[in-house]
Amino acid sequence: MRVDGISYRTIRPLADGGVEIIDQTQLPHVFAPLVLRELAEAANAIAQMQVRGAPLIGVTAAYGLALGLRRDASSAALARDIELLAATRPTAINLRWALERMREALMPVAQAERAEAAFALAGEMAEEDVAVCAAIGDHGLALIADISARKGGAPVNILTHCNAGWLATVDWGTATAPIYKAHEAGIALHVLVDETRPRNQGAALTAFELGHHGVPHAVIVDNAGGHLMQKGEVDLVIVGTDRTTARGDVCNKIGTYLKALAAHDNGVPFYVAAPSSSIDFSLHDGMADIPIEARSPREVTHMSGVTEHGEIVSIRVTPPQSPALNPAFDVTPARLVTGLITERGIIGATEVALAQAFPERVIQGILSGV
Ligand code: MRU
Repeated sequence: MRVDGISYRTIRPLADGGVEIIDQTQLPHVFAPLVLRELAEAANAIAQMQVRGAPLIGVTAAYGLALGLRRDASSAALARDIELLAATRPTAINLRWALERMREALMPVAQAERAEAAFALAGEMAEEDVAVCAAIGDHGLALIADISARKGGAPVNILTHCNAGWLATVDWGTATAPIYKAHEAGIALHVLVDETRPRNQGAALTAFELGHHGVPHAVIVDNAGGHLMQKGEVDLVIVGTDRTTARGDVCNKIGTYLKALAAHDNGVPFYVAAPSSSIDFSLHDGMADIPIEARSPREVTHMSGVTEHGEIVSIRVTPPQSPALNPAFDVTPARLVTGLITERGIIGATEVALAQAFPERVIQGILSGV
């Protein structure tokens, strides 16, 4: 997608052997590309959220593994590096999915050729992610076009949570892909962007990308969504997912569940943009079985922003003696999900619909635990 008129992807291999990412911890204040050269740097970029968003985490891990194999391509190193990368963030299943795919493809490859094969496969996965997100965009566009037609062309008001935009994937985004496609098709729309405390991925990242792409939007505080739904000011909710279970429970950024409850209470359609890489066919009960990442309390007690002089600072917003809790994700039960927008079409959030859409993944999930 475009930043200041230039098309970017969130990750790309460089001719000199490095892998370029955009340091998302600096956004929206500074657009800072950063080059990864070592496995440890890739692992750190994921853990510190210089890259984040389920699909991008998966692709970054694949490139990180390739960087590691360049130093040591033995089978022992491959296994060790996969475990190291898998431990960086526990919730988004794309990470495990990407690493297991790399393991399966690279184990049979001769040691001397492993690093090169790993870079090639990471590149393939990046391209696939772009194609998958574009397909999600095409399917979701139909939903938006339908609402637009019913409203006689008046702007379609879409609420989204966190950043499931192009910054969370390689390009297009998942939840934002239908939005970008509709915008490009000339459909009037307006996006309500949840700020998404504590790390403000909505306020910092989604607003940044929508703004640069010229999509009309407004940032709202996390607690405004229910009120706006009661007032009839939300036509549609589209969010992303970090892990969706075989029966359609959706794990996503903390606060998603509350939006789903409010949407349900107000008859607002609640859709989840779900690439198959984020579906975990080995789990059923999302509430019981998905590991929820607990992040540092400092993300709650402190906020960062930019001063009038352009300096990025962190300030404390809580009393120094108050502890904080920081569960980073929650699970929305399938019954609150109107539908899943996948690369193979829009389907119900049910075991049968998911199995019918992705039969090959059901078998794989049972065999491999992903
Ligand atoms: O903690 P983050 O910023 O990695 O969380 C990201 C989200 O929860 C996204 O909504 C999800 O990964 C879907 S991204 C296409």
